[in-house]
Amino acid sequence: MESKLNQKMNKKIFIKTFGCQMNEYDSNRLCDMVKKIGFEKTTILNESDCYLLNTCHIRDKAKEKVYHEVGRLKKNFRFKKKPLVIVAGCVAQAENEEMLKREPYIDIVIGPQAYHKINNKIEEFFDKRKKLEETTFDAETKFSYLNKIKNNSNKVSSFLTIQEGCDKFCHFCVVPYTRGPEYSRPFDEVVNEAKVLSENGVSELTLLGQNVNAYKNNNKRLSDLIFEIENIPQIKRIRYTTSHPKDMTEDLLNVYKYSKKLMPLVHLPVQSGSDKILGLMNRKHKISDYVEIYEKLKVINPKIEFSSDFIIAYPGEEENDFNLTLDLIKNIKFINSFSFIFSPRPGTVASNLKLIDRRISIMRLEKVQKQLFDNQIKMNKNLENEEIEVLVENKTDESNKFFGRSEYMTSVIFDGNDKDVGNTVKVKINFSNQNTLFGESLNNFNKRVA
Ligand code: SAM
Ligand code: SF4
Ligand code: F3S
Repeated sequence: MESKLNQKMNKKIFIKTFGCQMNEYDSNRLCDMVKKIGFEKTTILNESDCYLLNTCHIRDKAKEKVYHEVGRLKKNFRFKKKPLVIVAGCVAQAENEEMLKREPYIDIVIGPQAYHKINNKIEEFFDKRKKLEETTFDAETKFSYLNKIKNNSNKVSSFLTIQEGCDKFCHFCVVPYTRGPEYSRPFDEVVNEAKVLSENGVSELTLLGQNVNAYKNNNKRLSDLIFEIENIPQIKRIRYTTSHPKDMTEDLLNVYKYSKKLMPLVHLPVQSGSDKILGLMNRKHKISDYVEIYEKLKVINPKIEFSSDFIIAYPGEEENDFNLTLDLIKNIKFINSFSFIFSPRPGTVASNLKLIDRRISIMRLEKVQKQLFDNQIKMNKNLENEEIEVLVENKTDESNKFFGRSEYMTSVIFDGNDKDVGNTVKVKINFSNQNTLFGESLNNFNKRVA
């Protein structure tokens, strides 16, 4: 029997995404999947038949944010036909059927490792008019299902999930509970998806995983994947995130010696500059391990820079521990980094620890961010009057201004040409601020001065 859902064609889905890059990848893949049952993506909320909220649980009042969002949606559709409301992502996984009880406006709750069941769940909802919750962990079946559905992503710079989940259980983090155990996708499937993306027009691939450098499929590692993807001619740049210091193995460090496409920015979260705090966090690495990785990579290529994640005011952090974090930031000269005050997450080991005074926490965060911003401003200033390589992503709203990124992920706005979108061009940097470099494509510059 045909599902009741199929009675209306050309249904529209509106997707709102919070959280990390993996959520962005997942949202795109969910879109590829629901196409099979007649949904087209829309960016106009009011015309949507289905509203999907892809949620993040990493910090702050994540759960409340979701209910506020659904509250706003309810108001918006007060005098219109209610859309099908789906909550996906890490809050869905953590809260599961509780969400259906607390907010009857939600119809389906689905966790990240059950996305392959999304079409069945939508059809079941329409057939039985019954609220549904699906939060089983089944990464292997999910990816083998997804493997049969074309990835339609065609942005110049796209994400590609190669690994998901985490077995490390840092005491502050919800990821092992929301994404489940570590799982690495089969090597050949990843390479095939990279080829499909390159045929769609993608020039830069960022390989994703919660512990991307723990990738292991039979005897293949992340290093093997990078070399294999490097053979795809249309792919001009390769990045990977997020990695853990414990998995920075020699084979991966060596890729930096030989790879022509792996970018010289290493995003390697350290969290704190104090061994005492790293121990309390259950991080399984010491500052000396981190500095050793830094030094080895700098010998391989002095152009390599580091970015990181920092948790400020973790329970037990004393002034001395905090100063060690500041020292590390000065010594490594981190750029493009993220820093947040510790946020207790329900269900984690650190959830009930005594918090550091709020005023002190904010002061420490401000100091760390000032140091990180100073590093960034200095790095950008040093590039003024230099020629750098930029991957051109799109034209901006301003005429003849284009947007791209440097090898270090810094935004670059410059006078360019339409034909350069998707390619790397040389840009002469004229001035900069903390977040952006401004310049002119060398082709244009040469024409102007000729
Ligand atoms: N796997 C990566 C690693 O080991 O470094 C991190 C992935 S996690 C999704 C991204 C970042 O969120 C972490 O590096 C950490 O800085 C931050 N984070 C996680 N839990 C947090 C918490 N409870 N409070 C504040 N920041 C948190
Ligand atoms: Fe979370 Fe990363 Fe620690 Fe895993 S290794 S628990 S993802 S911070
Ligand atoms: Fe957030 Fe889940 Fe990513 S908690 S950071 S969406 S893995």
